[in-house]
Amino acid sequence: MFNAAVIVCSDKGAKGLRVDTSGEYIKEFLTDKKFEVLEKVIITDDLDTIKNKLLYYTDEIEVDLIITTGGTGFSPRDNTPEATKEVIMREVPGIGEMLRAESYKITPRAYLSRGISGIRNRTLIINLPGSLNAVKENLSFLGDVLNHGLKILKLVDTECG
Ligand code: MTE
Repeated sequence: MFNAAVIVCSDKGAKGLRVDTSGEYIKEFLTDKKFEVLEKVIITDDLDTIKNKLLYYTDEIEVDLIITTGGTGFSPRDNTPEATKEVIMREVPGIGEMLRAESYKITPRAYLSRGISGIRNRTLIINLPGSLNAVKENLSFLGDVLNHGLKILKLVDTECG
C-alpha cells in the first residue's frame, strides 16, 4: 500500500472563499485505490509556499505520491508547474502528455494546462488542473500507470514484464 498527500493550490480556497471539491475528490479516489492519504492541504498559489509544501512532503514525510490540483493555467498566479520544476530531480513527461492527449478528446482546452510530473527522491509528483471536472477526467486516465510506476519507483517491483 502506498501513501499520498494532496495539495490544493488555490488563493481563494486558502482564504476560505471557495469550498474545495477537487482535493476532496482526489482524496476519495486515492482512498478507493487503497492509498493511505496522509494529508490534504489547501495553500495559496505563491510559488515559494507550493515549493516548501512539496519539499515538506518529499523530504520530511517522504510520501510516495503527491497530487497537486490547481495553478497550472495561464493566470499570473498559476505557479504550480514552476514550483514543481524547482523540486523534481527527474521529469516524467509522459504523464502530462498522456493526460493532455486523453483530455483533449473531451475539451481542446486541456492543452491550456501546463501541469508537469516528476520524481524527487522516491516521491512521484503529479500536477492536475483545478476544476472538479478536470480532476475527475484526469484521474480516470491514469489507470494502471500510477500503481505500476510507483511499484518500480519504490522497488516493490523490479521487472516491468
Ligand atoms: N483537462 C480536463 N480533462 N478537463 C478540463 O475541463 N480544463 C482546462 C485544462 N485541463 C480541463 C482540463 C482548462 S480550461 C484550463 S485553464 C487548464 O486545465 C488549467 O487549469 P487550472 O488553472 O485550474 O490548473
